[in-house]
Amino acid sequence: MQVTIKSVEEQERMRVAGRLAAEVLDMIEAHVRPGTSTGELDRICHEYITEQQQAVPAPLNYRGFPRSICTSLNHVVCHGIPGKRRLRDGDMLNIDITVIKDGFHGDTSRIFHVGRPRIKARRLASITFEAMWAGIRQVAPGKRLGDVGHAIQALAESKGLSVVREYCGHGIGRMFHEPPNVLHYGKPGGGMILREGMTITVEPMLNEGRPETRLLPDGWTVVTRDRKLSAQWEHTVLVTANGHEVLTLGAGPPGP
Ligand code: MF3
Ligand code: CO
Ligand code: CO
Repeated sequence: MQVTIKSVEEQERMRVAGRLAAEVLDMIEAHVRPGTSTGELDRICHEYITEQQQAVPAPLNYRGFPRSICTSLNHVVCHGIPGKRRLRDGDMLNIDITVIKDGFHGDTSRIFHVGRPRIKARRLASITFEAMWAGIRQVAPGKRLGDVGHAIQALAESKGLSVVREYCGHGIGRMFHEPPNVLHYGKPGGGMILREGMTITVEPMLNEGRPETRLLPDGWTVVTRDRKLSAQWEHTVLVTANGHEVLTLGAGPPGP
């Protein structure tokens, strides 16, 4: 499959899908507190997406994924499956939302701290947020994916954090995962040239310790091999004539 260029009409539909995904995160924030289970967060998001938004939760049954959102706690890198686990004070939780509206996908994730964050979790979450934005700032027509990856990697490694290699950002549109792969490491001036009308995600996963990951026997949950903390933030981004437009901004303050 080739990289898709979205027409002006398709860009508008991507804008709607992106806004809806962000609104799910805005909505769920108040429910992220000690005692709530990740399965309850999934149920609340599922009902909001299907009933209020009249949209489709893209993860549900995607390649066999069993729930409507991903919930990745502490040393879980990504693709955590919601279930019985209840949130506890000091947990760091990534919630990853992807909705389909009018045929197009919007994909975004944020870190939430449960109760009082641990110092290390606060630092990791906030540097990962800065790294995502350093990558997004590189997005413009004529720039290359290597510029995006390098900006993220340079910031992460300058702070002593490592970049996960096995999972990456992606093109997005009518399909959840389209080409190109958006690596969160790379060389300036390398990789594919960005062009107006492309839509991609930037979603770095940064680890406190070593970069290596392991897949749990459930076939989905990705954890750090050294069991140290991992954090992730994600936005869906449109390449515009002059630079970029982030399609998944929330209503509130954007930060960690
Ligand atoms: N939302 C994830 C991403 O950012 C993908 C989740 S795939 C799922 O690309 F099947 F786990 F939902
Ligand atoms: Co994504
Ligand atoms: Co996502």
